[in-house]
Amino acid sequence: MDVKSNQDLENIRDNLVRLTEARGSGKSTPESGPPSEPTEEVVRRMKRRRLANAGVPARFLGVDRMSIDPLVWKRCEPLLDGGPDGVFLCGPVGCGKTHLAVALLREVVQGSIRFLSVPELMLRLRESFRDGARSSEGDIIDACAGCDLLVLDDLGVEKPSEFAVQSLYLVVDRRYSEMRRTVITSNFTIGEIAERVGDRIASRIAGMCRVVELQGEDRRVR
Ligand SMILES: Nc1ncnc2c1ncn2[C@@H]1O[C@H](COP(=O)(O)OP(=O)(O)OP(=O)(O)O)[C@@H](O)[C@H]1O
Ligand SMILES: [Mg+2]
Repeated sequence: MDVKSNQDLENIRDNLVRLTEARGSGKSTPESGPPSEPTEEVVRRMKRRRLANAGVPARFLGVDRMSIDPLVWKRCEPLLDGGPDGVFLCGPVGCGKTHLAVALLREVVQGSIRFLSVPELMLRLRESFRDGARSSEGDIIDACAGCDLLVLDDLGVEKPSEFAVQSLYLVVDRRYSEMRRTVITSNFTIGEIAERVGDRIASRIAGMCRVVELQGEDRRVR
């Protein structure tokens, strides 16, 4: 089964869960009279499942926008207006970039969403060349390039090979050309990204993303 069909299956499962949960809340059975609003708990569970299906790691499934500094949220909000602008979140280790990216993803209730770290993307691409691989390189790139909102986490973490730069270019260029929203997180500034993966990728990121610099201590350290 290829990556695209996996995404299709996830979407179908997502819709089924929604229907079932809406029924559970009395929303859509003909016998139950006029539909009622799903409860907060049902909405919370639906959002959590949507994030999990998109590939968000367990640690971040519970995040929500109330935990984000309102000024930072305001800088990112154009992403949620449905326009083509994405966000490039940069800042030091542990300052909350992935947390914020997931909080934003959680607010997007329409369209297909996907969360993938760049090192994970590279691993999957390398695996696609093995004998008997389930997905081809093209399937993986199509799945990243084609979803409505993509979070690319941890750009620039590893010193990229020529192959990694080429693959990254394909994803970023397609998203830029097709005006699809992308959230990118990185420990590096766009200038530093240019040094690591080249001007062509950095220029497209700068063209399609609003830069939001986060500050603060490492939140993992207690
Ligand atoms: N606004 C917040 N409120 C509560 N917890 C937060 C907030 N931001 C981050 N955290 C928590 O702090 C930890 C570190 O955050 P996160 O992983 O998002 O950092 P990061 O900037 O992505 O780090 P890295 O550069 O290493 O990827 C996580 O457990 C996260 O859930
Ligand atoms: Mg992170």
